[in-house]
Amino acid sequence: MRELARRISAARRLTIVTGAGVSAASGVPTFRGPQGLWKSFRPEDLATPGAFARDPQLVWEWYDWRRKLIDGCQPNAAHHAIAAWSRRPGFALVTQNVDGLHERAGTQHVVRYHGSIWNLRCATPCEAGSREWEDRTVPLPCVPPRCPHCGGLARPGVVWFGEGIPEEAARAAQAATACDVFLSVGTSSVVYPAAGLLVEAKRHGAFTAEINPESTAAAGIVDVAIAMTAEDALPQLHRFVESE
Ligand code: OAD
Repeated sequence: MRELARRISAARRLTIVTGAGVSAASGVPTFRGPQGLWKSFRPEDLATPGAFARDPQLVWEWYDWRRKLIDGCQPNAAHHAIAAWSRRPGFALVTQNVDGLHERAGTQHVVRYHGSIWNLRCATPCEAGSREWEDRTVPLPCVPPRCPHCGGLARPGVVWFGEGIPEEAARAAQAATACDVFLSVGTSSVVYPAAGLLVEAKRHGAFTAEINPESTAAAGIVDVAIAMTAEDALPQLHRFVESE
């Protein structure tokens, strides 16, 4: 922890990648593991373009349920520690989380790698509806919701399996791999291309670290693996950095 704090303190460019584990202490379920969403639901029924084409009602009921759940959650100590770092020059946060809790904690310049559950866009897509709009209404008054421009089906503004990363987010994340310290927090590191960012950062010569209470696919690659929860490790790390 001390070594990582020294590295962060000296870094001109610090990049953090987060996954579902960062929001676990806020009450947002993770995807994998014993309590994970993918234990009770099949991703191919709910989080693919094919699933949406087959049954938009079912897909939207699942997203409406998650939106309600997330709406009742607050950012935790891990989000707040990251928010404090986001005011440093040369900081970048790339999150796979669609819950918006980093933004609610006040984190600046969030790269939403997998989109946002609070954004919608036209599924057709019509020209006006291809630009996303924010809708924080919970529950949604009409499921499935409609595009306000053409009346067709709207879809969640998230990245599903089999889809590409939004162009701007992909570019920003790629640029952020050119950093001095790269920290991966609360992700199982099995979903690509997000998991590849760590390898890319290593290639650029970054000091790499992971915070996760469980061993992950990235554990053997990083310079330091801290087996702690994000909500315990990050505030502690933040204090160490401040005292450097
Ligand atoms: P996962 O559910 O795959 O992994 C969550 C990770 O968080 C696990 O490695 C846990 O050990 C760890 N964890 C649990 N509690 C923690 C805590 N309190 N502090 C720190 N870590 C903790 O979630 P992601 O890696 O984010 O994509 O999943 C990546 C993508 O797969 C998601 O964005 C989503 C999913 O399917 C799509 O839906 C396209």
